[in-house]
Amino acid sequence: MKAKTTIVLGTGGVGKTTLSSAIALDLAHKGNRVLVMTLDPARRLANSMGLTALSDEPTMVFSAGQSGGILWALMPDTQRVFDRLVAQYAPSPKTYKRIMNNKFYETISTSLSGSHEYLAVEKLYNLIQSEQFDHIVLDTPPSSNVMAFLNAPQRMIDFCDDRYFKFFLLPYQMMGRSGQSLFKKGSDFAIRLLQKLTGVELLLDLSEFFFNFKDMYQGIRQRASAIHALLHDAQTNFVFVCGPSRDQLETSLRFIKSLKNEGIVPRHVIVNKVHKEVEEFASGPDAQRPEAIYQYYLGLYQLHRQNIARFARDLPPTCLSIEVPSLLDEVNSLEGLAALGPFINSVAG
Ligand SMILES: Nc1ncnc2c1ncn2[C@@H]1O[C@H](COP(=O)(O)OP(=O)(O)O)[C@@H](O)[C@H]1O
Ligand SMILES: [Mg+2]
Repeated sequence: MKAKTTIVLGTGGVGKTTLSSAIALDLAHKGNRVLVMTLDPARRLANSMGLTALSDEPTMVFSAGQSGGILWALMPDTQRVFDRLVAQYAPSPKTYKRIMNNKFYETISTSLSGSHEYLAVEKLYNLIQSEQFDHIVLDTPPSSNVMAFLNAPQRMIDFCDDRYFKFFLLPYQMMGRSGQSLFKKGSDFAIRLLQKLTGVELLLDLSEFFFNFKDMYQGIRQRASAIHALLHDAQTNFVFVCGPSRDQLETSLRFIKSLKNEGIVPRHVIVNKVHKEVEEFASGPDAQRPEAIYQYYLGLYQLHRQNIARFARDLPPTCLSIEVPSLLDEVNSLEGLAALGPFINSVAG
C-alpha cells in the first residue's frame, strides 16, 4: 500500500517542523507506521529524535508497542538525492562519472531551480514508492516561499527543456565539428567575447556538463511531471501553519489564495502559538498580577481572537482552522510533541 501524504506548508518560524513532528507522532500513537521528513529541525528537537546528521535512511524514533505504531524521522541529504537521480538516469556509468567530475556539477545541482525544494519532494516520491510507510509527513524547507516549493517540479521540467540545452551545447558541438579550431583561433567575435568573459575552459566545462546531461532530460522530465502530479493530487493532504498576529494571518490568506489558484486547498490551517494564558488569569495564581499588566494581556488576547475570527471567515469554505496554544516551554522533546497531540489529532486522519 502506498503511503498517505501530508505536506506541511507555511512561512518560516511559525512551527512547521514542530507541528509536522507532532502530527507524525500522533499518527504513530494511533498505530500507524509513519515517517516524518524534515529539513531543519531545531537542534534540541533533532537530538531528541536521534537526528544528528543528514542521512539517506530513516531513523526510528518511537515505537508504540502493541498497536504496531512506529515513528521514523529522516533529514535527507539533498545533494545525495540529486546524485542518485543522476545515477538513475545516466545512460552509462561513464557518463555518470563524467557528470560527477564536472566542475559545474555541484554549482548547478545545488542552485538548480530551488533544488532544495525539488529534491525534498523527489525524496518524498521515492519513499512513497517504497511502500514502507502508512503515512509520510513532509515538513517543507525553512526559507521556502510556499509557491516556490510547489513550482519546483515545473522549474525542473523547464530546466530540462531542449531549447536551453541546445544553446549550451553549441560550444561543445562546435569543438567536435571543427577540431577545436574555432575556440583555439577565437576568430569569431562572439566566441572571442565569451572566451574573454568566461575563459574558454569554463565555457567548455559548462557545455560538457550539458552534453552529458542531455540523455537524461527525458527521464528527469517525466519524473518531475509525476512529482508535479503528486503535489496536485486530491489525496495529498496539505496543512498550512501560521502565527496569530494580524500580519501573519493576512500573509497566510494571500498564500492560501495563490494555492487555490494552483488548485490546492489545504484541508486545515493551524494557527500556532496562540496565547491562551489569559483565560486562566482570572482564576489562577496570576489573578494577583497588577491590573495594568492583566489589562494589557487581555487586550492582546482579545485582539488575537478578533484576528483569528476574521481570518477563519475569509478562508475557503472547505478549509478548517484549528488553534494550537503556545506552550510555556519550547517544544524540543517527544513529550513536548505529544502534548500538542490533542490539538492536531484531526488534521491527518
Ligand atoms: N505551540 C508551540 N508552543 C511553544 N513553542 C512552539 C510551538 N510551536 C513551535 N514552537 C517553537 O517555535 C520555534 C520554531 O518552531 P519550528 O517548528 O522550528 O518553526 P519552523 O519550522 O516553521 O521554522 C521552536 O523553538 C519551537 O520549539
Ligand atoms: Mg522548520
